[in-house]
Formats: sequence, C-alpha cells, structure tokens
Amino acid sequence: MRISDFSLPVLPARLLQLREEATKGLDPAAADDVLALLLALARMRSPSSILEIGTAEGLTAAALLVTCPEARLVSIENDPDRHVRAEQNLAGFGVSDRAELLFGDAAEILPRLRETFGLIFLDGPKAQYIRYLPVLKKLLAPRGVLVADDVLLYGWVRGQVQPPPKRRSIAERLREYLDAVLSDPDFLTFVAEAGEGVAVSVLR
Ligand SMILES: C[S@@+](CC[C@H](N)C(=O)[O-])C[C@H]1O[C@@H](n2cnc3c(N)ncnc32)[C@H](O)[C@@H]1O
Repeated sequence: MRISDFSLPVLPARLLQLREEATKGLDPAAADDVLALLLALARMRSPSSILEIGTAEGLTAAALLVTCPEARLVSIENDPDRHVRAEQNLAGFGVSDRAELLFGDAAEILPRLRETFGLIFLDGPKAQYIRYLPVLKKLLAPRGVLVADDVLLYGWVRGQVQPPPKRRSIAERLREYLDAVLSDPDFLTFVAEAGEGVAVSVLR
C-alpha cells in the first residue's frame, strides 16, 4: 500500500474538478502537494490577509479563502481572460466578498500596496521573483510567510537538467532568488521538493 505524502482539506467538488481541468493548461493551478503545503501553512499561521502574485483562474485563491474563513485575499493577474474567470470562480465559491482581484502587472501594482500580509504566495512570472523580493519583504507582516512556487523548475535551477537555451535566464534568475532568500538573515528558509520546488521563507 502506498501512503500518500500529503492530505488536502475538504474542498468543494467543483473546485477539485476545475483544478483537474487546469492541470491541462499552460499556467496550471498549484500542484496538489504544493497546495497541501500552502494550506497547512495558512492553517498554522491563520493570516488575516493573504497576497497572491499570479491569480490565474483563482483556484488556489479560492482554496485559501475556503480554508481560512477569517482571511481576506488580494491577488494580482495580468491576463484579462484569467482575471475575469477568477472573478467568476470566486463568486461561484461564495468568497468574492473577501477577495480583491487586481488586474495588471505585478511589478507596477506591488509597490502601490499599503497593507501587510501574514502569507504571500508568489506564483507569477518566475524570472521576476528576484525583482519582486525587496517589495514583498516590506509587505510581509512580522513572522509572515513567503511561499514561492516552482523555484527548482524541472531540475534546471540546481543544474540536474540543462534548461533549453531560451530558458537559461529564468533558471539563473530563480537561482538568484534562492540565493537571496537563503542568505538573508531576516528569513528562515526551507526549500521543499513539492511540485517543481517550493521555497518557504519565514520572516524572523
Ligand atoms: C502558475 S500561474 C498562477 C496559478 C495560480 N496561483 C494558482 O495556483 O491557481 C501564473 C500566473 O501569473 C500570471 N502572470 C504572468 N506574468 C504576470 C505579471 N507580470 N503580473 C501579474 N500576473 C502575471 C500568468 O498570467 C498566470 O496566470
């Protein structure tokens, strides 16, 4: 018998179905084990506010809001169709009143945010993580948790697999992100082998 490595809380059947459909897309929702890790951290931290970079269709946002009934969530997406679908999905799960979906480029929106967040899920453009890091650090509440998805990306970042030439700079930028969070004395960071690699950085 194979014992699973994680469990997911009870999520609406429609959300599970949409997640399954999204795995066939270009920018899928977070992998099951990444979502389980993120929801476990959210339960542990009980953040009053959550920030997500890269809403896509709002499926991880919905899972976070269903799992944390007291939390508010701000999420940023620059693809207009996904932004609209996310609005529809969150309305369908009855959590729109606790969500603020912002449409536009995260690099422009992040510096304009004025509140702090107990949990940040960084899941937008991978090459930009290192650029976002200084502003994300300022947006974290004391002892806030920054969760960055896809930081090992197909083995490219640790050099186990050679990235295609066009992807080399993404791998390089992700390596810079990992170096930055791992060497920053303000963070306690753990890189988990969930999905394509998840860096969990807790502000001291
Ligand atoms: C991996 S998907 C996010 C999945 C989502 N977090 C989830 O788990 O359901 C990445 C998303 O980031 C969006 N994105 C890419 N560049 C962006 C940018 N500069 N600003 C905001 N969003 C961006 C993409 O359009 C895409 O929908």
